[in-house]
Amino acid sequence: METETIKAGDPKDIVKSRYDACAEQGGGEGAVCCAGDTPASPSFAAEHGLYSREELSLVPKIAFTLSRGCGNPAGFADLQPGEVVVDFGCGAGIDVVLAAHKVGPAGKVVGVDMTPHMIERAKQSVAEAHVAETTEFLLADLEQVELPDGFADVVISNCVINLCPDKEAVYREAFRVLKPGGRLAISDIVYGGEIDPQVRERFQANWAGCVGGAIEEDRYFQILQDVGFGQVEIVARHPLQQKELEEMACCPGPEFTPAPAKDDIASVEGKVVSIKFRAGKPRTH
Ligand SMILES: C[S@@+](CC[C@H](N)C(=O)[O-])C[C@H]1O[C@@H](n2cnc3c(N)ncnc32)[C@H](O)[C@@H]1O
Repeated sequence: METETIKAGDPKDIVKSRYDACAEQGGGEGAVCCAGDTPASPSFAAEHGLYSREELSLVPKIAFTLSRGCGNPAGFADLQPGEVVVDFGCGAGIDVVLAAHKVGPAGKVVGVDMTPHMIERAKQSVAEAHVAETTEFLLADLEQVELPDGFADVVISNCVINLCPDKEAVYREAFRVLKPGGRLAISDIVYGGEIDPQVRERFQANWAGCVGGAIEEDRYFQILQDVGFGQVEIVARHPLQQKELEEMACCPGPEFTPAPAKDDIASVEGKVVSIKFRAGKPRTH
């Protein structure tokens, strides 16, 4: 398994190879990270408040085992029957399944991911969840999603955009595929305090863990504004504690991404923030 320090300029390749290997292996043995240390046990995610027991009862085991999110965007997107939803970085499809249940038979959910084995697993998930007819998948980079302008009512994303080196390009795509008046519901990771530059560099060398590609919260929301989004509404903001950071920083699992040094983790405790927010594309655009 490749675990060497990444070279500047290739974070996407590292992300792709690690998440693809994880999906190919069905989550890896004892996979940790955002989903917790016993991802096969629905109670862990329930205890961490990501998904309710009722939601988890709708999710096939493969989607849950491979889930690597830091929130539940379909749960706070206020999805309505008949709406069209796009999930940016859908992974093995946990949020696609949940969104499909909310938009119902008249709606549609499209999952986008650049990792072929995640897309395969997501197709398996929607088939097992009996929502294949209202879901579709695209193997694509989020910087260039092959969907028409104004396609979607809602773009959701769960712990993905921190992994993208060009966050502005990704949010420009989200803006483009949304209808005027459309909305975003996003869970992501940002920096909420000053990080020592050397520690930051070491996290960047571990880019696939959902901490290395994170940026400062102010800069993150400036990007949204620059792209044209308004009505930003923070739904929740949770500074990660040591154990959560340890799990998060070796996403998609320690056999794919080496754990950072304990001292580095301790130095950023409380400064790495899990955020959940909604934002809107103006109706007049
Ligand atoms: C941390 S996982 C989260 C997956 C899923 N949203 C969930 O909650 O389980 C990140 C996912 O984003 C995908 N991803 C990261 N960067 C991407 C990009 N630039 N384009 C498309 N997919 C990307 C990865 O392949 C991976 O499946």
